Amino acid sequence: MRRLLTAINRRMMKLLIALALIAYVASVWGNFVNMSRSIQENGEQKMEKKIEEVIAPLRDKIRDLEKSFTQKYPPVKFLSEKDRKRILITGGAGFVGSHLTDKLMMDGHEVTVVDNFFTGRKRNVEHWIGHENFELINHDVVEPLYIEGLAKRVGARLLLASTSEVYGDPEVHPQNEDYWGHVNPIGPRACYDEGKRVAETMCYAYMKQEGVEVRVARIFNTFGPRMHMNDGRVVSNFVLQALQGEPLTVYGSGSQTRAFQYVSCNLLSSPPQGNPEEHTILEFARLIKHLVGSGGEIQFLSEAQDDPQRRKPDIRKAKLLLGWEPVVPLEEGLNKTIHYFSKELEYQANNQYIPKPKPARIKKGRTRQN
Ligand SMILES: NC(=O)c1ccc[n+]([C@@H]2O[C@H](COP(=O)([O-])OP(=O)(O)OC[C@H]3O[C@@H](n4cnc5c(N)ncnc54)[C@H](O)[C@@H]3O)[C@@H](O)[C@H]2O)c1
Repeated sequence: MRRLLTAINRRMMKLLIALALIAYVASVWGNFVNMSRSIQENGEQKMEKKIEEVIAPLRDKIRDLEKSFTQKYPPVKFLSEKDRKRILITGGAGFVGSHLTDKLMMDGHEVTVVDNFFTGRKRNVEHWIGHENFELINHDVVEPLYIEGLAKRVGARLLLASTSEVYGDPEVHPQNEDYWGHVNPIGPRACYDEGKRVAETMCYAYMKQEGVEVRVARIFNTFGPRMHMNDGRVVSNFVLQALQGEPLTVYGSGSQTRAFQYVSCNLLSSPPQGNPEEHTILEFARLIKHLVGSGGEIQFLSEAQDDPQRRKPDIRKAKLLLGWEPVVPLEEGLNKTIHYFSKELEYQANNQYIPKPKPARIKKGRTRQN
């Protein structure tokens, strides 16, 4: 009997040990499963984080691209087929050309800009890229484009952007359309002045020979946003110098006069002309200094050769025949230009651009003041 009880106890013990073993293995297995699940979950989370890090910039890029596809263009008028013109602008990515492009696009016309970006920038017309009325062609007009031939074939009108420089250092004041000018043909400014005079001659000869309609706009000093920082013109020089607290450089006594015109006034009707409000260069330097609030001095440098002493357009004919006259007051235009140049300075990588007077250039010529 005792033996029987011992045998039963032993079996019970074995059974209990076996059950305990099973319970232990089960709990270890459970832990193991939980652990590997959490490792897996952690790994998945890490992986997801990594994927997110890679994808996020791509997602931003796609969003930007989508935005550019649904780009909002400046408002454009609708013109019927018969009223809509197809206009080719050479140099349309430059200062004046890009404002003309804006005006014609907003009026509802189709505009093709041809430019080799020598002094122009894509940035000036980028807000039209992709618009159905707009085309941008990267082309050097020194290579044939047959614009004149095209004008004759389609009965188009040709507008030449000429300049008040065709009057040279004028002996007639103010300058009207009938004045032939007073240009030194071999002076430092001759390339530009005589180049424009030849361009006018060729346009008129072509008009007489081929019957193509031609218009010539003798534009006086124009300023405004999208001027180049380094074009050496009096407005950009003064504004940039003033914004950077540098001395404003005046060539000669500063008593020579100019008539400055805000760029949008050029585009009120064609042909544009100039603002008859005459200022001495010194007055102008002082005004810019005041508007910018600059403490920079005015520095006088030696007079430049062939610098026109007086410039002022006689706009009576333009007013009478075209109803054209400038509308933007000088200070308003200058404030817009100052705002533009201060933004441009921020845009520059080194935030520094000071136009420096170049003595060698002063000897031979002078900065552009057309
Ligand atoms: N800004 C003024 O005050 C003023 C005054 C009188 C006349 N103008 C005349 O108006 C026109 C525009 O002047 P702007 O001040 O806008 O100058 P700009 O330099 O800003 O514009 C000229 C444009 O022509 C482009 N260009 C130059 N050479 C080219 C070539 N070979 N092929 C194709 N494109 C070329 C340039 O890249 C630039 O976009 C010029 O003919 C200028 O003589 C300007």
